[in-house]
Amino acid sequence: MSEEEFEPKIVAFCCHYCAYTAADLAGSMRLQYPPNVRIIRLPCTGKVDILHLLKAFEDGADGVYVAGCMEGDCHFINGNFRAKKRVQYTKKLLDEIGFGGDRLEMYNMSAAMGPRFAAVASEMVERIKKLGPSPIKKPKNKKDGEAS
Ligand code: FES
Repeated sequence: MSEEEFEPKIVAFCCHYCAYTAADLAGSMRLQYPPNVRIIRLPCTGKVDILHLLKAFEDGADGVYVAGCMEGDCHFINGNFRAKKRVQYTKKLLDEIGFGGDRLEMYNMSAAMGPRFAAVASEMVERIKKLGPSPIKKPKNKKDGEAS
């Protein structure tokens, strides 16, 4: 598969109070960002669990990121710090199994950062394009047991 053909699937776990609102703002400002990003809205990034991150990869995501409020601004006090710890732990885990921790990232932004939301989405898509498709992804148009 050539690099030009590869359009990564990215899952973004976004906090309702910041990144999700920033995504909305980016839309209102008519800022362009890649359509590869699928947003999952959370009441706070503190709700994201290691299993959710791993399940997103298992379900076919090539890259995953968590976007929460700025440090010190979480509406639930320390939800974004919990998310940061879980992301760091999962990155380590993904590195240890040879999957690549770089496929996962944590970002912080405020609701007013529409341009940052668009920049982060583009940055993540570019990063994953360089890394290539997820190693656990089944090749397209091939059924189980079919010879390559
Ligand atoms: Fe936004 Fe907690 S409320 S990260």
